[in-house]
Amino acid sequence: QELQINLEQIEKGGYDHFMLKEIYEQPNAISDTYRGRIRVAEGIIKMAGIDDNLAKLLNAKRIIVIACGTSWHAGLVAEYIFEELVRIPVEVEYASEFRYRNPVIHQDDVVIAISQSGETADTMAAIKLAKERGAFVFGVCNVVGSSISRETHAGAYTHAGPEIGVASTKAFTTQITVLSLIALKLAERKGTISNSDFHYYLQELERIPEKVKDALESNDHIKLIADTYKNARNFLYLGRGYNFPVALEGALKLKEISYIHAEGYPAAEMKHGPIALIDEQMPVVVIATKKGHYEKVVSNIQEIKSRKGKIIGIVTEGDETVKRLADHVIEIPETIEFLTPLLTTIPLQLLSYHIAVMLGKNVDQPRNLAKSVTVE
Ligand code: AGP
Repeated sequence: QELQINLEQIEKGGYDHFMLKEIYEQPNAISDTYRGRIRVAEGIIKMAGIDDNLAKLLNAKRIIVIACGTSWHAGLVAEYIFEELVRIPVEVEYASEFRYRNPVIHQDDVVIAISQSGETADTMAAIKLAKERGAFVFGVCNVVGSSISRETHAGAYTHAGPEIGVASTKAFTTQITVLSLIALKLAERKGTISNSDFHYYLQELERIPEKVKDALESNDHIKLIADTYKNARNFLYLGRGYNFPVALEGALKLKEISYIHAEGYPAAEMKHGPIALIDEQMPVVVIATKKGHYEKVVSNIQEIKSRKGKIIGIVTEGDETVKRLADHVIEIPETIEFLTPLLTTIPLQLLSYHIAVMLGKNVDQPRNLAKSVTVE
């Protein structure tokens, strides 16, 4: 028993929980994901699974992403990235819905299945269905040799390293990294982005690990915010564009480890219902980075403020406008718009982590949840 406890302590590498360790591993995990795959100076992306199937991917009329949970959120981010950069229509499906609704699948559809564990039963069944109907299925998995990585026609690993905490953290950011690499490669080949943008985007991607480190510097500040709101009964998370899926992910993270009810919404949908919930008891986490509908998000913040909601803004370094309106701001470094989810996610992970710890919850193994959902 004692030996077991000591071993676990060693595995946690000095952190109190695996989740915190994995949050802090993200700068390295992200660079491990692109290491060996990009040569920035030469403007080259090399990924065997993509290179070997380039024609199929470039000729895809549609991309269908299938996944569950956090991986589904990464798929939503990918939808925005692929449509913007590669100009291929993307649909993002819950694997559990896709497999049971007789979906229309064409031979020239490419299916991307995303799964950290590579063992999720619904995702597996959706892959089998897509294959039966003639689609080419590409897997994005973390666990090497997992069932999904073997079932798919081709794929790319995230190389995040083992993720032990049930709440997915580094798997999410590395999934977004792999999907960004794929989108960039296809966009360059298709000519849907200019050569200079391609080079610039690659350079920016290479700067992300350092910027994640900067974002992690806010940990103590986030802890204080967590202390202020740890007894809230509900939380709302808002974001737009690339950061709408991050709002969903932030809410999921809080729910699963702290058991506080949380909802994520596209910020502009607030006026179609959730605004009715806002009063002085309601903390609202708003992702309001400088790029991406900034003015519109600022006006959403004003609406929350006039209803006395408590605002926690995730803002770009040096932001003044949101700082004046919000109760708290957490700064992240500036980057190009489609890479912002890699940074905005970090404070949301830390916020949910600290709240759950303060409430005495089992952060790494929350109740009713398993790391791999291998049953329906
Ligand atoms: C994330 O924090 C969850 N634990 C869960 O939603 C998870 O992402 C989902 O079960 C999918 O798992 P997978 O990526 O291993 O397929």
